[in-house]
Amino acid sequence: MKILITGANGMLAKAVKEKLNKENELICTDVEDLDITNEQAVLDYVEKTKPEYIINCAAYTAVDKAEEAGEIVEKINADGPKNLAKAANQNNSTLIHISTDYVFGGELEIQKDYKEEDPKNPVTAYGITKLHGEEYIKQNTTKYYIFRTAWLYGEGNNFVRTMLKLGKEKPELSVVNDQHGSPTYAEDLANIIYQAIQNKIPYGIYNATNQGYTTWYEFTKTIFEYAKINCKVNPVTTEQYIEMMKVTQAKRPKNSQMSKQKLLDQNITIPNWQDALKRYLEKELN
Ligand SMILES: NC(=O)c1ccc[n+]([C@@H]2O[C@H](COP(=O)([O-])OP(=O)(O)OC[C@H]3O[C@@H](n4cnc5c(N)ncnc54)[C@H](O)[C@@H]3O)[C@@H](O)[C@H]2O)c1
Repeated sequence: MKILITGANGMLAKAVKEKLNKENELICTDVEDLDITNEQAVLDYVEKTKPEYIINCAAYTAVDKAEEAGEIVEKINADGPKNLAKAANQNNSTLIHISTDYVFGGELEIQKDYKEEDPKNPVTAYGITKLHGEEYIKQNTTKYYIFRTAWLYGEGNNFVRTMLKLGKEKPELSVVNDQHGSPTYAEDLANIIYQAIQNKIPYGIYNATNQGYTTWYEFTKTIFEYAKINCKVNPVTTEQYIEMMKVTQAKRPKNSQMSKQKLLDQNITIPNWQDALKRYLEKELN
């Protein structure tokens, strides 16, 4: 099968390429070959290559920088998916797009998790533009999957790598304990995408993270436990962290927990986050 991947140099794309390259013809592009904000270029490229699937891994992902970056964020996160949706629709391709927990407000009580159709209330430039991207896709094509993920790590700079480094350098660390979500291994998200294609699950929007919920503090403690790193971890609130580190940052959702029941109902296998972390560390530390 012919599959076009956009943003192919990114962290998720690396895992997607590894998962799909054996059985498929992959056309891998990043901004230098195909800028997804250029509508005509996207329409022409898809018309020329005629892929059965387009997997959009391109995005403006710097959440804090996005607050000040102006219209480029909307262009990449909203107009990009719109262009791809139009091109997919014209060529009868299926569009697979990745969205985020940031489309929700994050204020849901911690005992609950977000279902796909729950009200959206993004409060950051990143979240607002990612939601626009979702809406444009729905308006411009019918054959699409939108997978909302969160707390992604894989081949590239990510939270786990940062903690492994800091944990070896410092005797103790303060990590926030009031943001709740699911760390997600890019390899497992790639496998969810693979299964969705294989099983031809119904088109639509799906929450797609690893299973189980934790906080950044608990996650860090588990990283150090598995990696046998001796570093004390202190739980702090987001407010305390901002005060201690003297950082200005975009608002973080307190609750990023998203139910995967819709994917599970389609018999999609989703490992829990501890299992995923063990597999990642095996690769990362060897
Ligand atoms: N990283 C996370 O924690 C996280 C969390 C939730 C959702 N997501 C979503 O997952 C997806 C993948 O994220 P990632 O962390 O792998 O991203 P990444 O930042 O590693 O990669 C993004 C890629 O997009 C490319 N790109 C940027 N602008 C482009 C343009 N105009 N045209 C073509 N390519 C362009 C970049 O060059 C880069 O290779 C994104 O949609 C992101 O919003 C990520």
